[in-house]
Amino acid sequence: MHLRLVMLGFGNVGRALARLLLRKADVLRDDYGLTFTVTGIATQSRGRAISAAGLDLAAALALVERGESLDALHAGLPVADTLALIDTCPADLFMEATWLNPRTGQPATDYARAALGRGCHLVTANKGPVAHAYRELKALANAHGTGFFFESTVMDGAPVHGIGREALLATTVQRVRGVLNSTTNFILTRLEEGVPFAEAVAQAQAIGVAEADPSTDLEGWDAAVKIVVLANVLMGADLRPADVDRTGISGITIGDAQGALRAGARIKLLCEAARDGDTVRASVRPTALPFSDPLSQVSRTSSAVTFETDTLHELTLIEGDTDPTTTAYGMLVDMINIARGRHRAGQSA
Ligand SMILES: NC(=O)c1ccc[n+]([C@@H]2O[C@H](COP(=O)([O-])OP(=O)(O)OC[C@H]3O[C@@H](n4cnc5c(N)ncnc54)[C@H](OP(=O)(O)O)[C@@H]3O)[C@@H](O)[C@H]2O)c1
Repeated sequence: MHLRLVMLGFGNVGRALARLLLRKADVLRDDYGLTFTVTGIATQSRGRAISAAGLDLAAALALVERGESLDALHAGLPVADTLALIDTCPADLFMEATWLNPRTGQPATDYARAALGRGCHLVTANKGPVAHAYRELKALANAHGTGFFFESTVMDGAPVHGIGREALLATTVQRVRGVLNSTTNFILTRLEEGVPFAEAVAQAQAIGVAEADPSTDLEGWDAAVKIVVLANVLMGADLRPADVDRTGISGITIGDAQGALRAGARIKLLCEAARDGDTVRASVRPTALPFSDPLSQVSRTSSAVTFETDTLHELTLIEGDTDPTTTAYGMLVDMINIARGRHRAGQSA
């Protein structure tokens, strides 16, 4: 199979994906019979490029890394904006890794609608479209018989959605609990070590875990978006991030963190979605977890999730420290699964 790929976003994740595609091209061809050309790349401020014959991905990486525009690689009439590129670029599969607005899911949700509405496959690392429009986008993909995969939206490249889709069959997920936000987990670990809150935030920023404006993480928005993704995809819920009962970590002190340790527990920003009759309720809040809980053992930038189902009871997945390549890997796995037709398993005939 040959896929024409369009990359929306060419930042940390998009460029890591480009490097991974170059590194794994032979494996994709030899092991999966999958070849590709990248026919389009869109960014916000670093230009846009379309080439029906295929862009030189190494040249695109070099341009952006030198701070130059992708426009130099563009063949044809100018493209007004990202939506225009989505509408006109020759494409089979869009790989979306643009900016996330956790409160609205835009503009990525509109990009997802446009890509799927064209009858193309979509892989996204962006939680926004899944948290804000999962049912609609999944229905759109089903109507066209195309794939809509998003492995990297929760726990980067760890196969959380792969397990849900391929392994948790004929079972009811009763509850999902997770430690899913790296910034807050890093800060809580540093508080246990006696580092003051503001210094811990600065350290998280210095190692590239926290944004320049860390409020989305500290107030629990990123965690809320992730638990909504899990609740909607794995539990059939129809929640939005604003529905989550959400408390951030700003009120936690060194004394709280070390007091919990002395009592045999660790404070984690716990994300939880649980069935309550016919509904699913979701929360994000700092919680003292006993050492016996596997989620308490996740330190610094690691993350973990525990599924409770009516058949498996408890299944925990733990992921070590991550980087943009881990996220890009989840997108690569989604691409392979689409080429293998795995999206058809979730679509009615
Ligand atoms: N970083 C991670 O490890 C990680 C992990 C899991 C999920 N994610 C998700 O992956 C996505 C990308 O993350 P990142 O770290 O790569 O972010 P980033 O470095 O800020 O890159 C974002 C890219 O999107 C582009 N962009 C922004 N708005 C756009 C628009 N309207 N149209 C076209 N392109 C647009 C930016 O353009 P410019 O180049 O002009 O700025 C940039 O190329 C986010 O949704 C994030 O939540 C990231």
